Amino acid sequence: MTGVGLSTSGIAVRDAAENDFDAIADIYARYVRRGTASFEIEPPDADTLIERWRGVLADGLPYLVAETGGSVAGFAYATPYRPRRAYRFTVEHSIYVRQGDGRRGIGSALIEPLIERCAALGYRQMLAVIGDTANATSIGFHRRHGFRHAGTLPSVGYKFDRWVDSVLMIRPLGDGDASAP
Ligand SMILES: CC(C)(COP(=O)(O)OP(=O)(O)OC[C@H]1O[C@@H](n2cnc3c(N)ncnc32)[C@H](O)[C@@H]1OP(=O)(O)O)[C@@H](O)C(=O)NCCC(=O)NCCS
Repeated sequence: MTGVGLSTSGIAVRDAAENDFDAIADIYARYVRRGTASFEIEPPDADTLIERWRGVLADGLPYLVAETGGSVAGFAYATPYRPRRAYRFTVEHSIYVRQGDGRRGIGSALIEPLIERCAALGYRQMLAVIGDTANATSIGFHRRHGFRHAGTLPSVGYKFDRWVDSVLMIRPLGDGDASAP
């Protein structure tokens, strides 16, 4: 995918490009500064995010943006779950929708092709590492997209003067573990 047409909902999803990263940095910074979905404390600048994007591409993985009305309204990408070789069929993903644009289908428009792309690449499990047990939006969103709760890591983060859990949710891709890769 380099680009797709505008859907009836007015959301267009395509591969990210270098000049999207000011908007991506802005969307992400709000979550870093104000929330616990991300465990970063200082918002990374656009150049740092471009370096990370290049890393995603170097791993052959997708990095998508959603546009509404000609501006970037969300982004989602996959990364290898862990570097040891036996993890090589598992990806982790991240997804962020611009604050104020939630519940309009933008997250779904991003995650569906992300799942399809990762499955087509031969990955067998996709993992969401969700910041904060209280993140009912993300937990509900992932459940809706076929992820099931796979565990909670209690108090592995510390942000805004409190301990924060990670919620693990996982979804099989393709055959999942029903066959050898
Ligand atoms: C999670 C997130 C990506 C969802 O994006 P979104 O554009 O609001 O999602 P959608 O509009 O496509 O919602 C699809 C479905 O998810 C579920 N969902 C969305 N928001 C929900 C909420 N607040 N509570 C429960 N379920 C919810 C619903 O089933 C919804 O379908 P419906 O609106 O028909 O009921 C977005 O809220 C976000 O960026 N959150 C902050 C960052 C974050 O937590 N990212 C995940 C870290 S990996």
